[in-house]
Amino acid sequence: MTARTATRDEFQSPSLPEQVAAVRARFAELYGSEPQWIAAAPGRVNLIGEHTDYNGGFVFPLAIERYTVVAAARPRTVAAGDAVRVHSALMGETAEFSLSDLQPLRRDWTSYVRGVFAGFIDRGAAPGRLDLLVDSKVPLGSGLSSSAALEVATATLLEGVAGRPLDPVEKARLSQQAEHVYAGMPCGIMDQFSSALGEQGKLLLIDCRSETAQLVPLEDDSVEVLIINSNIKHELTGTEYADRRRQCFESARLLGVETLRDVAAERLATKRSKLGPLLYRRAHHVVTENERTVEAAQALQAGDWRRVGELMYASHASLRDDFEVSCAELDVLVELAQQVGAEGGVIGARMTGGGFGGCIVALVHSGREREIAARIGEGYAARTGVAATPFVTRPARGAHLVKS
Ligand code: GLA
Repeated sequence: MTARTATRDEFQSPSLPEQVAAVRARFAELYGSEPQWIAAAPGRVNLIGEHTDYNGGFVFPLAIERYTVVAAARPRTVAAGDAVRVHSALMGETAEFSLSDLQPLRRDWTSYVRGVFAGFIDRGAAPGRLDLLVDSKVPLGSGLSSSAALEVATATLLEGVAGRPLDPVEKARLSQQAEHVYAGMPCGIMDQFSSALGEQGKLLLIDCRSETAQLVPLEDDSVEVLIINSNIKHELTGTEYADRRRQCFESARLLGVETLRDVAAERLATKRSKLGPLLYRRAHHVVTENERTVEAAQALQAGDWRRVGELMYASHASLRDDFEVSCAELDVLVELAQQVGAEGGVIGARMTGGGFGGCIVALVHSGREREIAARIGEGYAARTGVAATPFVTRPARGAHLVKS
């Protein structure tokens, strides 16, 4: 039995039906009609397998019970042109774009939406004029894939509008392309894949080379997924992700392989001098993280929670020391979780997502999640002066049309 209380609070998952009802009401207020189509797509949390996706490796995420909802209808007014209007409930802002000039280089919150429209147009499916409303319960910029949720929700909506369902992997690729071209972020496939293909109660062990996934059930009711947002967003120059990606590709080139997926840890150890210290550390993270990810999926299936926890802590250390994408605040959160430890109900913890701020993910024993979150939150506030935001989730259903 979990310790969920009858009244829902910030610690628990928002209700999707309630979110959809609020979106319908707001849509009617804004545009004076009922939405004709409504789609929902979740954010994701990655349990283990970080910065491996663009190296053809393994990742082990789950979709979370926090959704982006997009609603649409044909405009009521007959007008010339091909404008799409899109309102963000979060920002209280309406923007417009033209279907014949999607402006890939214009960077704002509509980039994700425009990029997905472009993907449909490229595939010969003309969405036509639309009024859109976007609402999201996925925390923004926190490593929980709010942008992928927006892309995949938009793509799911346009499947309904165009009456043309895509293969879900193709939908993930189309959304990834939107992120690359319209948002200028050269991400891997993990986020869009998890949002498009997530299933209730299941994690996805994704092989990012073949773009296939094995569904791994999280059946053990005695284990909860606890996410703690550090509420830190480091202002970076924006090139860190692309830099890491380039360093990985350069390592693979020097090792004579297509991707770092093709390198085993023993072989890498013999190539230290060829790579030099920096590239060696980057490659070492990726190669060992792939091994940890496959092993963690096996250990989770076998219910070997002690091993899953060890692998999560090892993943964090590797991201901190070898890949250098953690930050002081994430390290403090993981350290505090480790101090609570197995006796206090913590199985394991690590940073999750791209890094440099955002969230940690922890596996904890059910019934103790609030007490654990409170202890970690107190320690975190004392050491950093920042209030963390914790919440729990179960693996959630992936993108779907709510109304078509
Ligand atoms: C971001 C990217 C993903 C992945 C992670 C790191 O979330 O969008 O593709 O590379 O970082 O694992």
